[in-house]
Amino acid sequence: MQRTLVLIKPDGVQRGLVGEIIRRLERRGLKLIAMKMMQVPREQASRHYAEHQGKAFYEGLLGFITSGPIVAMIWEGREAVTVVRSLMGSTDPLKAQPGTIRGDLALDLGMNLIHGSDSPARAESEIALFFSAAEFHEYERTIDQWIRE
Ligand code: RTP
Ligand code: MG
Repeated sequence: MQRTLVLIKPDGVQRGLVGEIIRRLERRGLKLIAMKMMQVPREQASRHYAEHQGKAFYEGLLGFITSGPIVAMIWEGREAVTVVRSLMGSTDPLKAQPGTIRGDLALDLGMNLIHGSDSPARAESEIALFFSAAEFHEYERTIDQWIRE
């Protein structure tokens, strides 16, 4: 079973879309393993977005992600990384398909509501950056027999 890191970015919290975003992930059948509200320290944000260091949008991106509280979560399921990325839609909301979180709820590249890890390896390191193992919840869900063959 694969796990992925999801962040509801400061715009999602400010716009009151936390419930809407979680609802979409839950309804797909993904399983919530960990969740917390936090304000990301700059040092943690710079590690999270290290791949973008030096790009023109990097400083703005760091300023945005640290500007207010976010909701950090770990979601689990078959191909969870790919499934979450497809639920999110394209990075630029103007190009995101209707039916996706960004395609339905966002308009601006810099305010695209949600982060999801883009590969299983990245998911592993991002989960370690945001959560300690003590924050994971290991539990059985009886509905899983109706989600997985
Ligand atoms: P994220 O990491 O935030 O989940 O988004 P993503 O994978 O869809 O996109 P990524 O390429 O990792 O970019 C990270 C965030 O940087 C902003 N961005 N701005 N101005 C630009 O060309 C540009 N490109 C990316 C976006 O806010 C994106 O979510
Ligand atoms: Mg990314």
